[in-house]
Amino acid sequence: MLDEIDHVAIAVNDLDAAITFYRNTFGVEVEHREFIASDRVEEAMLKVGTSYIQLLFPTAPDSPIAKFLEKRGEGIHHVGYRVTDCKAALERAKAEGVAVLDEEPRHGSRGTTVAFIHPKGALGTLIELVQQ
Ligand code: CO
Repeated sequence: MLDEIDHVAIAVNDLDAAITFYRNTFGVEVEHREFIASDRVEEAMLKVGTSYIQLLFPTAPDSPIAKFLEKRGEGIHHVGYRVTDCKAALERAKAEGVAVLDEEPRHGSRGTTVAFIHPKGALGTLIELVQQ
């Protein structure tokens, strides 16, 4: 049910410094920037082939990314898989008894539809299902 890797998300302490790191080190530029109010994060999407690196920066102390940075420091936060049908992929995971963070698909950035699967039932990896 997973078509491609949509993005690998990295939690960062300084968004501009992270963007500069990717630009200077790898020549990768930002394709899209968005403030996601519901998650209290700012994201920068850097295109790598047909996928993205998603740099995530918390915009509030109670942001899930702020909590992640506090506990674990900067690093990989989740993997986003591109799916044709987010609802169908989510329902299949639920039917398999996998714990989910979103019972129903919701709006993501870039006009996508997304749902998150809990890391505890997914090999310690937070998984995002992304439908364009
Ligand atoms: Co994501």
